Amino acid sequence: MTAAHPHRAQIDAAYLDEWHALHAEYRANHLERQLPKRYRLADPETQLHPLVRAAAGKGRSIVLTGPSGSGKSHQLALAAKLEDAAGRSVAWFDAIDLIDRLRTAERDPEAMPHAAFASPVVVIDDLGKGRVNPFVLEKVFKLVNGAYMDERILLVSTELSLQELAQVYGAAIARRLADLAEGITRLDAGWWKR
Ligand SMILES: Nc1ncnc2c1ncn2[C@@H]1O[C@H](COP(=O)(O)OP(=O)(O)O)[C@@H](O)[C@H]1O
Ligand SMILES: [Mg+2]
Repeated sequence: MTAAHPHRAQIDAAYLDEWHALHAEYRANHLERQLPKRYRLADPETQLHPLVRAAAGKGRSIVLTGPSGSGKSHQLALAAKLEDAAGRSVAWFDAIDLIDRLRTAERDPEAMPHAAFASPVVVIDDLGKGRVNPFVLEKVFKLVNGAYMDERILLVSTELSLQELAQVYGAAIARRLADLAEGITRLDAGWWKR
């Protein structure tokens, strides 16, 4: 028999509101710390590419391709902020670092970047960079396929075309990425000036 406090419901609601606010603030800070400094101030309201806007922050995966300097990392940072604001925690990886850590993890399991396999939103910026080997390929497949199976969100940028991705990572990974994102979005250099 519990003698409920008369204001118990209000107290719980207030406590939950506070908890949610604290948690949202914690998540936003966590993302800000992960973002490369140059993309920290990016503003989703004014700087989103129209094609990215259609998916960003809606729990949908995005794969961006385009030449160096076409604003891919910038768009990933904006999309990551919107996902974060929608309550999904983001793990941000530069592909070079991610691939490097996967290579290291082959001999040192401590180096395994577990967030890449578990975070609700995983960013991989500049996929195609970094030296792959069979162990790395297996882990990248696990990462991409896991996101596909568990409906986690991948936000990926690459300078490679789908065919080039297939050459480096294999057809299965390239196809899964394209499936996840329902196609690859191409950014042209300097699109924001037009
Ligand atoms: N939406 C934008 N509006 C204005 N400048 C931008 C925008 N997106 C990118 N830039 C500029 O272009 C540069 C390259 O963008 P970045 O996202 O690093 O490209 P990529 O990742 O494709 O190489 C940035 O440093 C920034 O100065
Ligand atoms: Mg970039």
